[in-house]
Parts: sequence; C-alpha cells; structure tokens
Amino acid sequence: MLVNMKYLLDNANRDGYAVMAVNSVNMEMARAVIEAANEEHSPIIVQLGRGQMRQLAHAEDIIPMLINMANRVDVPVCINLDHGPDYETVNDALHRGFTNVMIDASSLPYEENVRRSRIVADIAHAMGVSVEAELGHVGQAADGDGQTDDMYTNVEQAVDFVKRTGVDALAVAIGTAHGKYPANFVPKLDFERLAALKAALKMPLVLHGGSGSGEENIRKAVAGGINKINVCTDAFRAAEIAMKEQWEKDPDTDYLHIMVTAEAAIKKFVKDYIRMIGSNDRYTFDYADNGSKE
Ligand code: 13P
Repeated sequence: MLVNMKYLLDNANRDGYAVMAVNSVNMEMARAVIEAANEEHSPIIVQLGRGQMRQLAHAEDIIPMLINMANRVDVPVCINLDHGPDYETVNDALHRGFTNVMIDASSLPYEENVRRSRIVADIAHAMGVSVEAELGHVGQAADGDGQTDDMYTNVEQAVDFVKRTGVDALAVAIGTAHGKYPANFVPKLDFERLAALKAALKMPLVLHGGSGSGEENIRKAVAGGINKINVCTDAFRAAEIAMKEQWEKDPDTDYLHIMVTAEAAIKKFVKDYIRMIGSNDRYTFDYADNGSKE
C-alpha cells in the first residue's frame, strides 16, 4: 500500500529501526525492491532523483507503474523524490503522486535553505505528502567529501531548522558521501554528533550515501537513531556483479535473461539489507480468523 514517508519513518523512529530507500530506476529494479520488502514484511521507500528521471526513469512512465506496484503489496511503500533541487522539480513530483518529496537546498546559505524547505513543507503537507530536507551537506565520495567536518550538521542549527521549517525527516551529514569510495576506504562516521542530533531532535533522521559504509557503521548508525538509509550505488553494484558473472559463465546470455539475473540479484541484496537494518517482520498480517460470519 502506498503511504507517505512520515507515517513510515515515525514508526521506525518509535521502534528503533531504519527503512531502506533505494533509487529504483526501472521496472525490474522497482519490482525487486518492492517484492523484497513484501517478502520480508518490511516497509520500503523507492526513490528517484531528477537526473535519474531525465536519463532513464521518465516520470510519466515510471510513477504510474510504481504506484501500481506499491498498491499491489501489503507492506507500506513510499515513493520519494530524492534531492529535489528546485521548486519546479518538487512541484512536478507533488502532482505526479510522489508521497514524499526531498527539498535539497543544503548547499545554499542557511536562511535560504530554511526559506525553501518551509515553503515546500507547507505546500506538500496540504497535499498529504511528507517532506525531507537536508542540513549540513552530504557531498560526493569521488570528491573526497565527508572526510572533514566542515560540512557536518550543526546540532543547534538543526533544532532551529526543524522548528522553522516543519519538515518530517532530516538528512544529516555525519561522514558519509554519495557514490563509490576509493578501494578499501571505509568512512569514519561521527557517532557523537549523531547521538547529540538525535537527543536534541527526537525525529526521524536520514543517512545519505549509504553505499560502501560497511556493515558495522550502518548497524551503529541505526542504533544511534538513523531511520532511513539511502542506497543507490550498492544496489546497482549488486546487479552489475551478477550480470558480469552471468556473462562470464555464458557470453550468449540474452537481454531477457540478463535482466532476470539483475532483478534476482537486487532482490537478494535488498532482503539481506532489510534484515541488517531491522525493518523486517514489522508488518506481518497474521491475525487469526476471529470467527465472524460477516
Ligand atoms: P549512494 O549511491 O552512495 O548509496 O547514495 C545514495 C543516496 O544517498 C541517494 O540520495
């Protein structure tokens, strides 16, 4: 069933687990992600960024399909706009049926981030859509971002930001970065800052750049109050590895079968990840028949 992200993350915040948000750029990937969640009785977030929609996942095609897939399963599914850079993109997402929008004005001056996030929160809330914003800035792994604390989220500022914007979830910068890290590099996360942010805000917190962070960091982040983990690169990678292996085994594998291979690999990856971050078995619809004849 299709739900907004506030519902999903408020429950995760209350019960101390995190929900995966996977950038799902085509039918096979979206189906793998949603079916993995359904089999694990887990909530899930499928998301798309503007660049992904421009390059491949055209919104007019994929959003009706995502809504259809979400409504076909029992577990709660949110469709999220990832990193909405401007009002035009956010507005388009609101009208297409996304159930959460992220407004990302985190690289702009603080007051402008507040102003834009508040406007988006006001309008989205009037439409029953929840809102994520970002404070501090989660940059790119390829640029070496995340390794110094100059872009990390400031606790006092975060309290002011949430009070003034009314956003439902906050993406915090604590040491991760988007994309692929250099080989053998594991980011060092600022767990003290995370603890201070959680104690001060007590609301759903989001970790961007989940890929390549290592299991220990992810488990500690969830224990420290992260309720949504964005994963893109590692989900793509699961499919890429499986496709390469299949082509090495049988170079004549055709398009249909390589896509089947990719879908199965993503599904396995998501199921394993869901269990790691503890969102499995949160929605088991196993109520006994109450004997009613109605
Ligand atoms: P990764 O590609 O590093 O997993 O980042 C995904 C992300 O944070 C999307 O917003």
